[in-house]
Amino acid sequence: MCRVIAISSNKGGVGKTTTAVNLGIGLARNGKRVLLIDVDAQADLSKSLGIRNPSGLEYTLTEVLQSIADNEDIDPKAGIIRHDEGVDLMPGSINLVALDTTLSNYKNGDSVLWKYIEMLRDEYDYILIDSKPALVKLSVNVLAAADSVIIPVLAEYLPISNIEPTILSVRLVKRRLNHKLEVEGFVFTMFDKRTTLAKESVTAVKNAYADHVKIFDSIIPRANSLAKAPAFGESIYKFDPRGKGAEAYEALTLEVLANE
Ligand SMILES: Nc1ncnc2c1ncn2[C@@H]1O[C@H](COP(=O)(O)OP(=O)(O)OP(=O)(O)O)[C@@H](O)[C@H]1O
Ligand SMILES: [Mg+2]
Repeated sequence: MCRVIAISSNKGGVGKTTTAVNLGIGLARNGKRVLLIDVDAQADLSKSLGIRNPSGLEYTLTEVLQSIADNEDIDPKAGIIRHDEGVDLMPGSINLVALDTTLSNYKNGDSVLWKYIEMLRDEYDYILIDSKPALVKLSVNVLAAADSVIIPVLAEYLPISNIEPTILSVRLVKRRLNHKLEVEGFVFTMFDKRTTLAKESVTAVKNAYADHVKIFDSIIPRANSLAKAPAFGESIYKFDPRGKGAEAYEALTLEVLANE
């Protein structure tokens, strides 16, 4: 059974892409067949996995989704790139911005990503979707296509006001388009254990949500190596295998596996 997980937050810069890379490769290291889908016009996920110029690629997620919107037949495996750490990647590109605006002209404009993923479910154990809130129609597509959502939460000032818009989006899409959508859990990111602010924000989020949302025990620390690894197209397990970032993402991976 394939599980489709969106790494999602309405707030930018909270560690979505970093989590997609290191959870995805973490799952592959545990023997799972993993596809990462880059629903971001900046294609940060693709760049983090070593694709230097995603917009120079001929066939990306943009072309796939455009064909599906136009009801054309596609080969669902076309354009998928194998990364040497054992995951597959469907890259994004800058043209996703244009696609996002045209999707509202299509009757099936909310469900093209869902349709694409349906064609690939048998091929993978996990499909992780990395996205960007700036893409309006595509953000709906992401939540419409996912079974569950992992929400990275920055351990800093005002985390709760940043979480609420994400929860509202999930609720809205669940009601309208995807009744089985669930929040898989919150994961704290960029945690700096030296600051009381970080500890206070973790406590505040736990007090507000822990009785109805899972909060992963694994907390991702702020670690320079996590910020540096993407420039080398590597996961944290390869870039800094003994560091605290690798340890934390490994622990998160095991928690996600335990949810199966
Ligand atoms: N735990 C961490 N410690 C230190 N730096 C981190 C950590 N996680 C992510 N970063 C860095 O912080 C920045 C934002 O992270 P990332 O790109 O994963 O966030 P995002 O939510 O995907 O952002 P966007 O909304 O722009 O897509 C990046 O430069 C990344 O390398
Ligand atoms: Mg990102």
